[in-house]
Amino acid sequence: MNIDTMAVHAGRDDLAALGVHALPIDLSTTNPLPGIERGGDSYEALATGGTPPEGGSAVYARLWNPTVARFESGLAQLEHAESAVAFSAGMAAFTAALLAFAAASGNRHIVAVRPLYGGSDHLLASGLLGTETTFCRPDEVAASIRPDTGLVVMETPANPTLELVSIRAVVAQAGEVPVMVDNTFATPVLQNPLDHGAALSLHSATKYLGGHGDVMGGVIACSEAYAERIRPIRAITGALLHPLAAYLLHRGLTTLPLRVRAQQETARRVAEWLAVRPEVDEVFYPGLHGDPHGVLGTQMAGPGAMVSIRLAGGGDAAEQMTSAVEIFTHAVSLGGVDSLIENPAALTHRPVAGDAKPDAGIVRMSIGLESAEDLIADLKRALRMPRDEASRRGTAAALDLAV
Ligand SMILES: Cc1ncc(COP(=O)(O)O)c(C=O)c1O
Repeated sequence: MNIDTMAVHAGRDDLAALGVHALPIDLSTTNPLPGIERGGDSYEALATGGTPPEGGSAVYARLWNPTVARFESGLAQLEHAESAVAFSAGMAAFTAALLAFAAASGNRHIVAVRPLYGGSDHLLASGLLGTETTFCRPDEVAASIRPDTGLVVMETPANPTLELVSIRAVVAQAGEVPVMVDNTFATPVLQNPLDHGAALSLHSATKYLGGHGDVMGGVIACSEAYAERIRPIRAITGALLHPLAAYLLHRGLTTLPLRVRAQQETARRVAEWLAVRPEVDEVFYPGLHGDPHGVLGTQMAGPGAMVSIRLAGGGDAAEQMTSAVEIFTHAVSLGGVDSLIENPAALTHRPVAGDAKPDAGIVRMSIGLESAEDLIADLKRALRMPRDEASRRGTAAALDLAV
């Protein structure tokens, strides 16, 4: 089935039998039990990572919720996966994977391909979960694997330089060790990591899957066997996705292919325009300067809708540009219908260790659904605006807000 059709219908198989057309939201925190023995069997099945048995009960919302399960089933289909497990945030999903495959598995070592999202990098580097991480470049994975390596973590396109990493090349080096790909930037519209040998595909669902900047969530698509390892961690740690959030995320899936393609088309035009600007030293956009690993068109169907640049004027120029934009919002996050701009060194990648921290002059843009002409006009003005004028405007905007 074409992804456009799948996005509209996936995870809705039971609706007709329920006599409803829109996704129902089940807010029950607890559920009636079909007797002590069968209730106990349901609890046992769910607490050990399974699904509610036939004629059984969902027992308790920390173990199972049908609204969340429908979103999971929809996302799993889009990711060509057997199953998916959803969480309250992308970082909760990342934490659960580290616990399931490393900290709680006896194989406490993790190999992490840099660059990664700053929060992921920080969690790994901190050792907070009792794991030990070797950070490496994509071609150093084989050399970094140890007998006690439980998981390999990678991101493509990588954050914030949008470097493309070959999933197959990393999987080949990882051998028997499962590889988890952060697929947040690409979305299942452009990339299905499991088709290329990855074991787990992780999303900050807060981004493109939700798509409107009004819902937080995380999700991991994988085999049912792996889902059974991850679900008990979610249940024990309470990192579950709220059913209202699951409803919004599931609704978001219906327009995901349309949004991603439209945002990508605008991003391509913005990147091409930026590439010839004298204020810009370098544009980071997949494929703009070639594709050394042959990832575009094979692993990833298109370059996506994130664009980063390194400004010739460094951190000062980044400060000026981010305060001068009017259509873009200076804010972290990405993947929504409106365009955002941020400075990774100061924000998303602030906790990353010194040598791996992005350059202060890098600015990252998430391109939304506005017209390319309007976005380019906004950037053109912001790149040219003198610094004192930009900060005066910032103050004026703050005063407006105060009123
Ligand atoms: C690529 C990537 N992965 C994971 C995360 C973490 O997701 P969340 O903020 O939903 O916890 C983010 C958040 O910015 C991200 O950009």
